[in-house]
Formats: sequence, structure tokens, C-alpha cells
Amino acid sequence: MSVDLEHYNFTQKHLLGLAEYSSDDIKYVLEQAKYFREILDRPVPKVPTLRDKTIVNLFYENSTRTRLSFELAQKRMGADVVNFSASNSSAKKGESLKDTIQNISSMKIDMVVVRHESPGVPYFLTQCVDAAILNAGDGAHEHPTQALLDMFTMQQIHPDLKGKKIAIIGDISHSRVVRSNITGLTKLGAEVVICGPKTLMPVFVTDLGVTVSHNLNEALSWCDIAMALRIQLERQGKGTELFPSLREYHERFGIKQKHLEKYPDFKIMHPGPINRGVEMESEVADSDRAIILNQVTNGVAVRMAVLYLLSGGNRV
Ligand code: CP
Repeated sequence: MSVDLEHYNFTQKHLLGLAEYSSDDIKYVLEQAKYFREILDRPVPKVPTLRDKTIVNLFYENSTRTRLSFELAQKRMGADVVNFSASNSSAKKGESLKDTIQNISSMKIDMVVVRHESPGVPYFLTQCVDAAILNAGDGAHEHPTQALLDMFTMQQIHPDLKGKKIAIIGDISHSRVVRSNITGLTKLGAEVVICGPKTLMPVFVTDLGVTVSHNLNEALSWCDIAMALRIQLERQGKGTELFPSLREYHERFGIKQKHLEKYPDFKIMHPGPINRGVEMESEVADSDRAIILNQVTNGVAVRMAVLYLLSGGNRV
């Protein structure tokens, strides 16, 4: 499972998605993240690794965890950080994405972290500027740092993910988190089952190369880790809802206290934000089986590792 930190040649310039990363690239990032995770527990959780770097966080979509986590990671490493929100920028006056990024780049930016509702925007930015581009979520395409922090959190329980059984439950068709997790987890040898209503599965679901289930009990009785996904009502058109009601969704696919009692081994993850009472009962989210806040803490360390590697560092 481990990668030779001394000799690994990490050649990636950007993080657009885990599709572009080899299994060794992923293992290498996760190994580096262990070092940064340890720094976060120090009395002074800071290193000056990025003190000569300037980073812009370019958010065209709402975010709490990803945005704050990237910003904290950058500040923990001494970078100069500027934050851009589309909602109070000249994008509101009609400025194009290309003009926006080229203007920002003219201010001598080294790295860009971008979240956008359109798949492919991070790749587009690589064609516009020289800075390293980090995808913080592009539409329903990829959310690579979320999957990296998810895998890091799983490895704290199961250091070797080869053969480990991961059930991902919920709104599969709208989820960038599931795409990045399927890509990363299968590269590390984990077995993945996706579980949810047929109407929340993508049209070409068999192309994902994982097992599909529509039975929550079947998935929970099988898995080592259950990852619930948020129901993304904002990506379903009004009047075209994909299930009768949130109550009915919860009844069939929500993780409940009774499941924790019936299947005593699996841990529970969620990328956030949680809809309590929909993806899981509130008691489940707050139970000692949930490792959801560990995911959030680990996210800072994983993002520190990614920033470090893409800034040109190759070993800690
Ligand atoms: N997990 C995640 O991407 O959360 P935010 O939308 O709050 O960043």
C-alpha cells in the first residue's frame, strides 16, 4: 500500500480529477497528508512551506467545508490568499470566466482553487493561465480533494483499502463526490457498491464499473463503510422531482438507529452538508459510528498535501 516517499516522481501540475491520477499518485498524496495531519495536532499548527506563494480561491458555487478547508490549509502553510465569490464580483456585470481568470492571473497568482457549477471549468482554466489549477468541485463531474480526504479517513480505520467494502448511498446521478470516490477507491483496490433509487442513478450506470443495489439493507449488511450522499434538490428541476417525497426517500434509503443495531460493524461517512432526517437520522449523524467530523479535520491536512505537491514540493 505504501509508496516510496524518497524516490517517487510526482509529475502532476494540476488536480482536475482523480481520473488523471495514477494509483501511485493517489497513494503518494495520502502518504504526504499523514505528515500534514500530524502538524495539525501541534500547539502551533503551521509550516512556512507556501510563504512565497499566492493563491486565489475562485468560488462560483456555495461552499462551507471545501472553501474554509482550502483557506485554512493555505494559511497554515503561510501562503498569501485572496478569495473571490462570483456573487459579489464583476461576473455579475457580465464579465466572462476567461476574462476574470486572465485578470486575476495578471496579479501574479501561483495557484487557483476553483468551484463551478459547470463540469470542465478547471480544465478550461488550464488553457487560459499558467497557474496550477485545483478542482474544488465542478458540476456533477469531480470533487477530487473530497475523495482524497474520504480515502484518508477510511485509511485511519483500514490502512489498506484493497478488498474493503464501501457502500455509497443516495443521489448518485448528481454527485461529483461519488465519481471521484469510485475512481479513487477502485484504483486503490476497494470494492464499491452504489445504492439508491433507480431514478437517482445515472443513465449509463453500468459504465461506472461498480455494483448497483436498490436495497439499503443489502448494502449495509455487506459494507465496512457506508457513505451517505446529500440529496441535491437544487440540481433537480422544479416540477421534475425524482422521488415522491423526502419522507419516502428517508423511509427507504435513510440510515437509521435500527440499522446501527442490526449491523454492528460499519462506519458512517457523509461529505456534508447533511440533511438530517433525510440521508440519515439525526442520532445516527451524532453517533460514535459516524466519522463525519474526522473527514472535515482530515480535509485540511489532505488539502495541505495537495497544495504542497502542486506548488512544486516533492517530499516532506
Ligand atoms: N463536501 C463539500 O463539498 O461541502 P461544501 O459544499 O460545504 O464545500
